[in-house]
Amino acid sequence: MQGSLSGRQGPRIRHVADESAPYETIAIDKMTPIIGAEVSGIDLSKPLSNRQQDEVHRALAENSVIFFRDQHITPDQHVAFGRLFGDLHVHPAAPHEAGRPELMVIHADKDSPRANGEGWHTDVSCDVEPPMGSILYIKKCPPKGGDTLFASMYAAYDALSDRMKTYLDGMTAFHDGESVYRGLYKNYGVAEKEQYPRATHPVVRTHPVTAKKALYVNRGFTRYLIGVPRDESDGILNYLYQHMENPLFQCRFRWQENSIAFWDNRCVQHRAMWDYWPHTRSGNRVTVAGDKPY
Ligand code: SIN
Repeated sequence: MQGSLSGRQGPRIRHVADESAPYETIAIDKMTPIIGAEVSGIDLSKPLSNRQQDEVHRALAENSVIFFRDQHITPDQHVAFGRLFGDLHVHPAAPHEAGRPELMVIHADKDSPRANGEGWHTDVSCDVEPPMGSILYIKKCPPKGGDTLFASMYAAYDALSDRMKTYLDGMTAFHDGESVYRGLYKNYGVAEKEQYPRATHPVVRTHPVTAKKALYVNRGFTRYLIGVPRDESDGILNYLYQHMENPLFQCRFRWQENSIAFWDNRCVQHRAMWDYWPHTRSGNRVTVAGDKPY
């Protein structure tokens, strides 16, 4: 057999055995060894005990995105759950529920010109302090489709070659909201802003809770790497985007009505599938504010 066929071509993923202490107040069902877990045994319409709050924090840190099924929460309970994790972020452009800027509308139906999050992205990475996490509550689902894909940026970083890690060490990239948001929501009656956020962030960030390194560039907002010629930047970013979209780093969530997904934007990218037209998919997102990446 030729070397190119017998040799390993793609990234190597190490399976890390789950040796952590058991949870006491919730149950965890991992979706893959890399990313994603369903959390059960908790009712988010009820006030959470300190132990439950700690365990949900821990489940997020250990799995990067967590899912809850069969939850029946009011908008106030959704907001209150988000506040357990920090101040709430208000989206710089997207529509929100009337009088509730912290409740972003996620909705697509037969008349929609587009759906939210159709390309791989990290939420609002163009902010100087981008959101730590997003909590999406879907109340109406299409009969089939409308899944959301999540990809671990820890796994994507770990699987880079040592040479690429050295190249990216200390590098920063420019993220732009202007080119994404200007005009995007004009059909939704949202007034245009004078300016949209833009920011420079490290290409590899350190997660403030887990201390692990994660790739932090995305097709949605990252425009170029700073300090290298534009053609080199385009080449490297294209390689990183293709690399991070490897299904090895992903899980895929099939929504049911009254499900919740809570993803950590510091180490996860996501992509929503709009494969259900002309059906309706609808819910709200509460977004938790974050820190300046380092
Ligand atoms: C988003 O917040 O990017 C939308 C995700 C989704 O609708 O699944």
